[in-house]
Amino acid sequence: MLPTRLRKNRAVRCLVRETVLTMNDVIYPLFVVEGTGIKREIESLKGQYHLSCDMLADEMRELSACGVKAVILFGVPDHKDGYASSAYSDEGIVQRAVKAIKASAPEMYVIADVCLCEYKSDGHCCFFESDGQIDRKRTISTLSRISVSLAKAGVDMIAPSDMMDGRIEEIRKALDAAGYESVPIMSYAAKFASSFYGPFRDAAGSAPAFGDRRSYQMDPANADEALREIDLDVEEGADIIMVKPASAYLDILAKAKERTVMPLAAYQVSGEYAMLRNAVDLGLMDERVLFESLVCIKRAGANLIITYFAKDVKHLIESYQEA
Ligand code: PBG
Ligand code: ZN
Repeated sequence: MLPTRLRKNRAVRCLVRETVLTMNDVIYPLFVVEGTGIKREIESLKGQYHLSCDMLADEMRELSACGVKAVILFGVPDHKDGYASSAYSDEGIVQRAVKAIKASAPEMYVIADVCLCEYKSDGHCCFFESDGQIDRKRTISTLSRISVSLAKAGVDMIAPSDMMDGRIEEIRKALDAAGYESVPIMSYAAKFASSFYGPFRDAAGSAPAFGDRRSYQMDPANADEALREIDLDVEEGADIIMVKPASAYLDILAKAKERTVMPLAAYQVSGEYAMLRNAVDLGLMDERVLFESLVCIKRAGANLIITYFAKDVKHLIESYQEA
């Protein structure tokens, strides 16, 4: 056996290629802000922008030209309080963004991240009791309220990223009761307490004011626990399961793929983007590494990839997939 026989030229490499990256695999994250006429580059995420709602129509045209078919929205509200009230307001920043996108680009598939951290004064993903314990019931009921409000605004899918136990079941019930049975839930099921989120917290203004997220996000050392989390969310009614971050957690993705028949998403997070973007810009690695990073995430088992590189994927595929 001489394995190099099947690497000799482009044609044979394509014939034996096991993993093919396409534009159907990628989802682009967008950060929406209050105000008008705003397209401001995010300092921690070069090449990514804060956009006001009136700028979204142009952004949708750019995304369509790049072949991007799905976005996930993150809100950066002006008003934060102890209740995360701007997250479930019908006039909330994401609710308005969903309407703006649907008005200008009805074919764009719009997913909304659901969490409290961007809307709450303390930057945490949950409410706490007076003794410092997580107030799970109150958190889940607010997450449900946010989800219903986003469904009402016309969102196509919701994606809870908080990591509270039992939230998928409650959100599903709330959506169904409000008449949104057909809105799917993509659960951040195995979300790790990761320093790879560093640039995002700056972009979304959601750094915790005290402590960290280790009492609700997962310990990076654990793999079996990730599978338990995934099992629970599937039982509770999640339609898509997510692993996050992606590149340092490919073993989790591979194990998840073996275990579940659910569609599997991976989030190539802000820190992964920043490392690769900067390394390529500095000339330390060539651009092919961007394609490699994505195709490897797919090879590990992801059917969907949330990536800040989504706009570049068409070009990367054309340049490096040899199809
Ligand atoms: C909010 C949320 C975070 C990310 C997605 N949703 C930050 C966090 O949990 O601290 C991270 C995304 C990224 O780093 O690109 N819960
Ligand atoms: Zn959060």
